[in-house]
Amino acid sequence: MPRPLKPTPVWIAVPAAGSGSRMGGDVRKQYLPLAGRPLAEHTLAALLAVPGLRELVVGIAPADSRWTSLSPDLRSRVRCVEGGADRATSVLNALHAFKPLPADSDWVLVHDMARPCVRTEDIIRLVATLTDDDTGGLLALPVVDTLKRADADDRVEATVARELLWRAQTPQMFRYGLLRAALQSARDAGVAVTDEAMAIERLGGRPRLVACGAHNIKVTTRGDLSLAEYYLREREEGA
Ligand code: CTP
Ligand code: MG
Repeated sequence: MPRPLKPTPVWIAVPAAGSGSRMGGDVRKQYLPLAGRPLAEHTLAALLAVPGLRELVVGIAPADSRWTSLSPDLRSRVRCVEGGADRATSVLNALHAFKPLPADSDWVLVHDMARPCVRTEDIIRLVATLTDDDTGGLLALPVVDTLKRADADDRVEATVARELLWRAQTPQMFRYGLLRAALQSARDAGVAVTDEAMAIERLGGRPRLVACGAHNIKVTTRGDLSLAEYYLREREEGA
């Protein structure tokens, strides 16, 4: 009889302390209604279904009064900490809050709360691809458009070959000790890193890109809400 495969243990950190300035409005985008429930509930439901999950920590803004409006069932399964002034600080705060602290070699997944359409099977594929990797990596989408680099007057300076270009998504998956050290090192050097991979690259790491579909969008502007709703319905129908 085949032995049942034991899932890779993973810890998940979710930065959710942003103010959603590009979305505008009074309600932070993580709480806007989307396909019948707050955006954050879709994200958390997909993450909480990941096999091997040890703990999920969410970084929220100190002034966030809406967290407690989320479903008690979901909230009871995650730990909440105060986020920071930028995304990297929110992630670092979450990394410090895991209980018990993960081993340095344990895998951590960092996922934007603002990506509600991620599918649990995307994450399972990411973990399966990287579980024996030396460095780790991230979900990403190969670029399909012809790309132009502009000058300061919006005149095309060059057409950039797209074959090797990808759009970074999340989750991003790195070993706990390395990720913590990389984010702390960027902070100590005053370098703003916009994702975990960038912090790892600073230290010479070469994260692996794992292809994911266009559905894993980061909800950023108003128009993204209807697109996200479309992808969520598609996910439900496929389930
Ligand atoms: N984030 C965070 N802490 C911050 C800033 C961002 O935890 N200080 C989180 C956001 O809540 C989001 C993710 O990082 O889940 C990606 O950030 P982004 O899409 O840029 O969200 P916002 O920063 O909220 O949006 P904007 O940049 O338009 O203000
Ligand atoms: Mg932002």
